[in-house]
Amino acid sequence: MKECNMGQLVDRSGIKLEEVHNLQMYDRIHELLCLAHKDNSSVAFSTTNVSKEELENKIYKNQGTIFIATYNDELVGMMAISIDKRKKWYCRGKTASLRFIAVHPDYKGNGIASELVDLCKEWGVKNNLQTLIWTTAYNNEAAIATAEKNAFRKADYIKFNSVQHPSIRLVLWLDKSVRNCWKLSVYYCIRKYYVSLLNQV
Ligand SMILES: CC(C)(COP(=O)(O)OP(=O)(O)OC[C@H]1O[C@@H](n2cnc3c(N)ncnc32)[C@H](O)[C@@H]1OP(=O)(O)O)[C@@H](O)C(=O)NCCC(=O)NCCS
Repeated sequence: MKECNMGQLVDRSGIKLEEVHNLQMYDRIHELLCLAHKDNSSVAFSTTNVSKEELENKIYKNQGTIFIATYNDELVGMMAISIDKRKKWYCRGKTASLRFIAVHPDYKGNGIASELVDLCKEWGVKNNLQTLIWTTAYNNEAAIATAEKNAFRKADYIKFNSVQHPSIRLVLWLDKSVRNCWKLSVYYCIRKYYVSLLNQV
């Protein structure tokens, strides 16, 4: 048992993790996304407003999948992964992005997101992926901390036209440790300086 300052006391052995291959539970997924992002002012509109068809297109039609966590049959966490065709120097080989990452506010801090990341890593290895990407708002401390805790490294600083705030992209190389790649740190610092200067943030 772990007492956490963010959610309720949870017996971690009661958390059930599984892969879902269709969107029969779309309503519960949508509800979880809205709940998880309720206090998140910088969330992209498309995350909480995603329709069943969009989710289907973004994940399953992009050769991806969805992992969920339940506790006493309640949906308490989710993470999706789908193939990403972007060609950046830090994307080594076949690449996928983690998307729609959400943990129920009452269950945060119990390692649920980290367990879901592990499933994504296993899935990545099984599907011969070399790079996993996690993109989040520059000020999403929980997401950045969770990504870094799970061995992702900050690689890029970006300002998308569609969102008002800058975003941080973190990477994980499944075939080789990213921890000692000095090029990532240098590139990230330059990008952060450049994007901040351009956008005055
Ligand atoms: C980000 C999120 C998925 C993390 O879920 P979680 O199940 O609480 O994460 P974990 O329990 O696996 O935590 C992983 C690590 O990150 C740290 N962490 C989590 N939230 C943190 C916070 N707000 N500030 C600092 N560190 C934090 C944890 O302490 C833990 O490290 P530890 O084991 O050394 O203590 C969850 O906070 C969430 O759903 N947020 C709202 C939705 C969102 O922003 N999604 C991400 C969009 S990209």
